[in-house]
Amino acid sequence: MKIFITGSDGNIGRYFSKYFSSKHQVFNCKTDFLDITNKVKCIETIKNATPDIVIHCAALTNIDLCERDESTAYTVNTIGSLNIAYCCSMLNIPIIYLSCNYVYDGNKSGIYYETDLCTPINVYGRTKLAGEQLIRTMCSKYFIIRTSWVFGGKNCFVKNIIENKEASFFISTTEIASPTYIKDLCSVIETILSSDIYGIYNCVNLGAVKKSLMIKTSLSYLKIKKDIIEIPEEHIPNKALLPKCTIMDTSLLKNCFNINMRTWEAALLEYLDK
Ligand SMILES: NC(=O)c1ccc[n+]([C@@H]2O[C@H](COP(=O)([O-])OP(=O)(O)OC[C@H]3O[C@@H](n4cnc5c(N)ncnc54)[C@H](OP(=O)(O)O)[C@@H]3O)[C@@H](O)[C@H]2O)c1
Repeated sequence: MKIFITGSDGNIGRYFSKYFSSKHQVFNCKTDFLDITNKVKCIETIKNATPDIVIHCAALTNIDLCERDESTAYTVNTIGSLNIAYCCSMLNIPIIYLSCNYVYDGNKSGIYYETDLCTPINVYGRTKLAGEQLIRTMCSKYFIIRTSWVFGGKNCFVKNIIENKEASFFISTTEIASPTYIKDLCSVIETILSSDIYGIYNCVNLGAVKKSLMIKTSLSYLKIKKDIIEIPEEHIPNKALLPKCTIMDTSLLKNCFNINMRTWEAALLEYLDK
């Protein structure tokens, strides 16, 4: 299969590229090669590559930056996604779009299903949701994968904190979400790649946690002594609002693909062992 990956120099794109290269022909598309906001270049590049499928990872992912520069966030995350969707629709090939838990507002007392109303509370979430909506309008063959707190890969929040062993750090304590091991995300993508059960899927490890507890669990497992100074996010200046609690249900993955996601704890321990 010929797989075209946008944002292949980002954390997830790079991992996907390496993972799929052993079994498929992968076209890596780094930012300096293709700016997804340039529609003409998108058409030319994707048409020339003649892919069987596009995994669309490129995005402006710095949530606070998105909040400060809504126009750029909208241009990259929404218009950029529209451009990629246009190309996939034109070539009649499927698109896999990496979306996120921030499309949900985080105020629900229970678990989020794919069918829940999406009312994002920050710019990043709004621009990602608008990307989803345009893909759904433009393409008949789409997989929208809503994931969250992806760990693993070269630039991962768990790794970054662990490796900076000497410094104390601050971490907000209020947000609760379902972490996702990059390896598990990749294996889900591998399964859906060759299917045609298009749609929107939550894809996270089971359970939910505060980021601070996830970090404490990691440090304790690795027996690393480190001060953790926790401050609530509302006390951190210039921060985008984050949804309070976005625990996501993954039973659609189970029903459609027979995929059982493991718990975040099990996935984290495997990651730490490596
Ligand atoms: N990481 C998570 O926890 C998480 C959770 C949910 C969803 N997602 C989604 O998963 C995808 C990948 O995330 P990630 O963690 O790998 O983020 P990342 O490391 O920030 O990667 C994003 C990539 O997109 C590239 N990019 C930015 N603007 C671009 C443009 N105009 N044209 C082409 N490429 C551009 C970036 O290049 P530069 O670095 O050169 O700007 C970067 O290589 C994103 O769509 C994100 O929304 C991630």
